[in-house]
Amino acid sequence: MKQSLLALFLTASVVCGAQNRQEQNLKTWQFSRDGKVWQQVSVPHDWAINGPFDRKWDIQHLAITQDGQNKAIDHTGRSGALPWLGEGRYRTVFTVPKGAKRAELYFDGAMSEPVVYVNGQEAGRWNYGYNAFRLDITQLLRRENNEITVRLHNVEESSRWYPGAGLYRPVRLIFTGDIRIDPWETFFRTLSADANNANVSVNTQIKGAKSTKNIKTTVTIKNADGRVVAQKTASPDAQGRASFNLDVAHPQLWSPESPTLYTLITTVKDGNKHLDRTSQRVGIRTIDVSRAHGFRLNGLSRKFQGVCLHHDLGPLGAAVNKSAIIRQIRLMKDMGVDAIRTSHNMPSQMQMEVCDSMGMMVMAESFDAWAEPKVKNDYNRFYTQWWRKDLTNLIKGHRNHPSIVMWSIGNEIPEQWKTEGARRAKEMTEFCHSLDNTRPVTAGGDNPKACTDCGFYAATDVPGFNYRGFLYDELINRQPQGFILGTETTSTVSSRGVYKFPVETKKMATYPDGQCSSYDVECCGWSNLPDDDMRMQDDRTWTIGQFVWTGIDYLGEPTPYYSYWPSRSSYFGAVDLAGLPKDRYYLYRAQWNKREHTLHLLPHWTWPGREGKNTPVYCYTDYPQAELFVNGRSQGRIAKCDTARLDRYRLRWNNVVYEPGELKVVAYDADGRKAAEKIIRTAGQPAALRLETDCKQLSPNGEDLAYITVTMVDEDGNECPDADDLISFEVSGAGSFRAVCNGDATSLESFTTPQMRLFHGKLVLTVQSSEHEGSITVKAKDARHHLTGILQLINIKQVPIRIKARK
Ligand code: GAL
Repeated sequence: MKQSLLALFLTASVVCGAQNRQEQNLKTWQFSRDGKVWQQVSVPHDWAINGPFDRKWDIQHLAITQDGQNKAIDHTGRSGALPWLGEGRYRTVFTVPKGAKRAELYFDGAMSEPVVYVNGQEAGRWNYGYNAFRLDITQLLRRENNEITVRLHNVEESSRWYPGAGLYRPVRLIFTGDIRIDPWETFFRTLSADANNANVSVNTQIKGAKSTKNIKTTVTIKNADGRVVAQKTASPDAQGRASFNLDVAHPQLWSPESPTLYTLITTVKDGNKHLDRTSQRVGIRTIDVSRAHGFRLNGLSRKFQGVCLHHDLGPLGAAVNKSAIIRQIRLMKDMGVDAIRTSHNMPSQMQMEVCDSMGMMVMAESFDAWAEPKVKNDYNRFYTQWWRKDLTNLIKGHRNHPSIVMWSIGNEIPEQWKTEGARRAKEMTEFCHSLDNTRPVTAGGDNPKACTDCGFYAATDVPGFNYRGFLYDELINRQPQGFILGTETTSTVSSRGVYKFPVETKKMATYPDGQCSSYDVECCGWSNLPDDDMRMQDDRTWTIGQFVWTGIDYLGEPTPYYSYWPSRSSYFGAVDLAGLPKDRYYLYRAQWNKREHTLHLLPHWTWPGREGKNTPVYCYTDYPQAELFVNGRSQGRIAKCDTARLDRYRLRWNNVVYEPGELKVVAYDADGRKAAEKIIRTAGQPAALRLETDCKQLSPNGEDLAYITVTMVDEDGNECPDADDLISFEVSGAGSFRAVCNGDATSLESFTTPQMRLFHGKLVLTVQSSEHEGSITVKAKDARHHLTGILQLINIKQVPIRIKARK
């Protein structure tokens, strides 16, 4: 056994080495559910995502009183209907590099209740599966054959969504000398900044020095070209602390539109001897909230065009992957989103790094419950003993990310009604301020009246309203802050490619097929339509933005199908679980994406059997007017107007009679000039599989992903919107099959078996790069229609293009 564990060490990569500091990313582990049968896995790893889906996993027999239920029912699929419950164990081995004096284990999160052993002795434990934690394991090290074991335990009724299972975020080993920098005590802040100058402060702390007499700490700030733009050296005090104030001339300020990053390098020397060096990416930017200006970034007021995102990555489960996160953020940016709320828990470092570098503001949230439960085994079991420790790790671990502009201490906390809740909110807000005095603190409340009455909102910096737009006007004057943030809005439900007739606005509508209509007119009992929240943002100067529930579908919480089997994932996303935009995506894009025009038509135009029937047509566009044609016959030219709830942001032709052929929309700009047109046609018989990707070139790192959309088309290339053929895949060469997803919330097909049915004509295949360069061939086969689609990818190291500076 020891031998095979030793072999694992060879694949642990050393990710950085400087002076005495060395980091190993522990990727290869052995994993077991029962302690008897072990298999080799790669971390990040989610042990439950392979399935099988089953209604028996974590059936929650209860009444969700928040959703208005007054008697207990069986909630199936609420936490994803995947086998995440129970125990899991991981083990690996490592060797201590020569000269290392101290070792620390860093977990970016482990689901859940991890207990960590080093060489058979307990090194430490953490309860909350979403938080990062560090363990000093120096005293437990051996010279050779060191072994780490992690035991995890997931209990039933501990989550309202799919939490994932296992070591789903990276685990690192950090070796240093005795005297070392503590990166969590290095705090970079922008004190003031304009186009001419930025004044920043850096606080640092070194640990392990018996005397700091001869020690010097230097901080250096480099710009994106690697040029030093500020540097200072100081002697730390007796506790190892040093503070610096630096000026950066002509700073490039960080924003979603221009996410420039700097590098902060901290070094420690004893005389001429280098002791330690750390490097962190930082951004220069200011934030503030006030009655006079609302939320400001770099002195400019803006309203959050935000979305809430759960942490799972669809068919990859909870296992973090940089390419998957980049794809999510790219999709959201194209929709016009400039902020995400990490609902309802601590984000991964990887996600925040991507948000820093791609330009996405973040509200980093922490808890879905405090001392009072929402489900019996949630965070309430730990709150009293752990909230300070959990907030400390969240804030110290993440406070240098320029993308994070706000902390959230909770979501719809049951105590929001009570004075005791307000007291807790005050205590927690003050605690956050003590760790970071630069960011406002919020909490989302779904009972804004109670939150206002008992002082819950007043205890935070930003009153967070979840839904209840109809109360904004009544309650604004009672908010001491003078503004309102829609911490959570909308909760409209839809299934990509599904349209229900007649088209009617409905609450909690359910259908025999377990789907929701994509006309975007259906929402929950407590929620509303996108149009309602857009209006509250556009017409009130004192709203500071919204976070739509949700940007992307997630595993679990299949509202409104609480007990309907087999629903097992959400319908709330503007994008489906596979990452394919639903119609609603374009409704937001038309309002939020100011760089590009949007002209989107719905529904599709292939309706055998609907001939002669009323089939409303909607157009989501930023243009103010458009004319619709069916087979060349005008259905009228209409303009957006505010006379009806749904006519301000959509163009609707409610009386179109379906006939096969061509549906065309011609858009006109504000001056009445023809600006753009779009045509969709009735599809014929399936004739080909179209394979498309926006990433043909992968990196040979064994982790990079290409997302390939597979679409059934007819012989003219028209999409066949109802195709549900079973497609199988073969991936060969320098890559492998990783996952497949079709966005159907009722599908029980495994994400990790290389075959799946098309859902409304489409699915998305995920291919992973190997560690070897070469080409990758992807084949998709459809036995029913004898079709094969082929796509070639290349897995090759990307040589950075260097532009020589002119002399
Ligand atoms: C909210 C809650 C979210 C989600 C959503 C569904 O009340 O904060 O986590 O459950 O409802 O509409």
